[in-house]
Amino acid sequence: MTSRLSDRDARIRLEAVTPRNRSAILALELAPYQRGFVATNTESLAEAGEDDEAIPRAIVIDGHVVGFLMYSAPEDDDEAIVYRLMIDRSRQGRGLGRASIAKLLEDIASQSRVRRVLICYEPENEAARHLYASFGFMEMGLDEDGEMMAALDLKL
Ligand SMILES: CC(C)(COP(=O)(O)OP(=O)(O)OC[C@H]1O[C@@H](n2cnc3c(N)ncnc32)[C@H](O)[C@@H]1OP(=O)(O)O)[C@@H](O)C(=O)NCCC(=O)NCCS
Repeated sequence: MTSRLSDRDARIRLEAVTPRNRSAILALELAPYQRGFVATNTESLAEAGEDDEAIPRAIVIDGHVVGFLMYSAPEDDDEAIVYRLMIDRSRQGRGLGRASIAKLLEDIASQSRVRRVLICYEPENEAARHLYASFGFMEMGLDEDGEMMAALDLKL
């Protein structure tokens, strides 16, 4: 599991989506080659509005919205699922994706019933594979949509 957050990681906030930060989330961009890796934030926020279990979060550092993630951790389940993670193209490569996952895993692990975290990504998404593997996610093979599934056991 994750070690304690570093000072920089501790500045990352995962904030609820509000009318105030919504437009900043919708303005986040990916590089063209990354756009097939994750749904748009417009689509994700629409999905969150229809899925009671989806928890959308703005990734904020020093008051700036720099990314977006979405996950679920239902109270009647011991598995959490990370649906989305993206960092604005202008802010990538500075450790913010890593810090966001570290913070999210801390938040999830603090809910003691959750034992496993699942994640999916396109098999050609080397950044996602490298990032998640470094936290201990183990690849489980492709799902029916051809996406790679990976899981992290929190209690190991
Ligand atoms: C994946 C993503 C969130 C990473 O965010 P980031 O802020 O750039 O990541 P970080 O700077 O924290 O780097 C995390 C690790 O990924 C590695 N990495 C980044 N881009 C990479 C690439 N193209 N290939 C291989 N590794 C890569 C970094 O080297 C770093 O590893 P290290 O700490 O061992 O050096 C970002 O690239 C993104 O938004 N991608 C598009 C959306 C997406 O693919 N989301 C994941 C699918 S759900």
